[in-house]
Amino acid sequence: MSQAQRRAEPGAGGSAGRGPFRLRAEVVESEALPAVHHRVVLRAPEIAACAQPGQFVHIWCHPPAEIDRPPCDALLRRPYSISRLRPPDGVEILLRVRGVGGRLLAAKTVGDALDVIGPLGNGFRTWPDIGVAVVVAGGIGLAPVPALIARLAASGARVVLLAGAETDEKIPFRVERPRAGRATLPEVAALGAEVTFVSESVEGILITEVVALRLDELPEEGSAMFACGPRAMLKRLAEVASGHIPLQVSLEERMACGLGACRSCVVPVRCDNGTAYKTVCRDGPVFDAAEIDWERLTP
Ligand SMILES: Cc1cc2nc3c(=O)[nH]c(=O)nc-3n(C[C@H](O)[C@H](O)[C@H](O)COP(=O)(O)OP(=O)(O)OC[C@H]3O[C@@H](n4cnc5c(N)ncnc54)[C@H](O)[C@@H]3O)c2cc1C
Ligand code: FES
Repeated sequence: MSQAQRRAEPGAGGSAGRGPFRLRAEVVESEALPAVHHRVVLRAPEIAACAQPGQFVHIWCHPPAEIDRPPCDALLRRPYSISRLRPPDGVEILLRVRGVGGRLLAAKTVGDALDVIGPLGNGFRTWPDIGVAVVVAGGIGLAPVPALIARLAASGARVVLLAGAETDEKIPFRVERPRAGRATLPEVAALGAEVTFVSESVEGILITEVVALRLDELPEEGSAMFACGPRAMLKRLAEVASGHIPLQVSLEERMACGLGACRSCVVPVRCDNGTAYKTVCRDGPVFDAAEIDWERLTP
């Protein structure tokens, strides 16, 4: 593949008809974060120009040249949410290093190149008259939150982030616990959100229960909820939000093509005849919670 960018499969995901693009992206930042997290910033002008909050990139974790003679490990691309845009042309991802793909990405240094496809999928839908936007995130589900908060705050919404994890080490941001008041995430709060963070090991409560307790504080008109995190959290949130507030959820599924062709990433959705299946990579990853058939969705 030349340095020049190539379009990927036509019509596969992307926003407003733009993209996705396949390109050779240069690593411009690579930083180890606490616990097993890592931040990578890629120079990817075409992706940065049209990415929407909640969309993702699909990354070939080996050196680009090896795509024509693939090694056995990390044979498939790995999907990572676009965490935020870094003007003028940067795309930031935050990863929890889990397996071989994550380890390969975390070992990249500035100047290395990666073969990337993006932006992929349908991101979070936002609209101008959201009064209060409640963003709920669990664990590494915080990764796509910065871009979403920036978008919501720019549109004039009051943004409330309710975030949780089993322990402080399970998220890619620093936790600050003032002597008085709630635990917060300074890096995310700086983007324009009122942040509450709870860790099961310290505060001893699940974030979904914090949401349930605070639901009555929300105005009936003009509130909207957005969520990303483990399935159990999203399922409970769908119950809590049902009939009270519109909720969009970002789902994860193991992926192969990332372009809607192989159907390895389908999830069950409700339809007139019972249940149908939609792809997380192309129809999602963001869905209306009311659309998902939560009973059939594997945990
Ligand atoms: C749309 C989307 C966005 C994502 N965004 C992020 C992100 O911003 N940051 C991040 O750290 N991770 C994200 N993930 C998960 C990430 O893709 C996987 O962690 C990664 O592919 C694992 O690859 P690996 O080779 O490091 O680990 P592997 O060796 O492939 O797997 C290691 C462990 O991770 C689990 N795992 C692998 N893939 C997934 C998956 N898709 N969902 C849940 N568990 C998985 C495996 O079951 C195994 O236990 C996202 C996934 C999707 C589908
Ligand atoms: S990964 Fe192939 S259809 Fe989603």
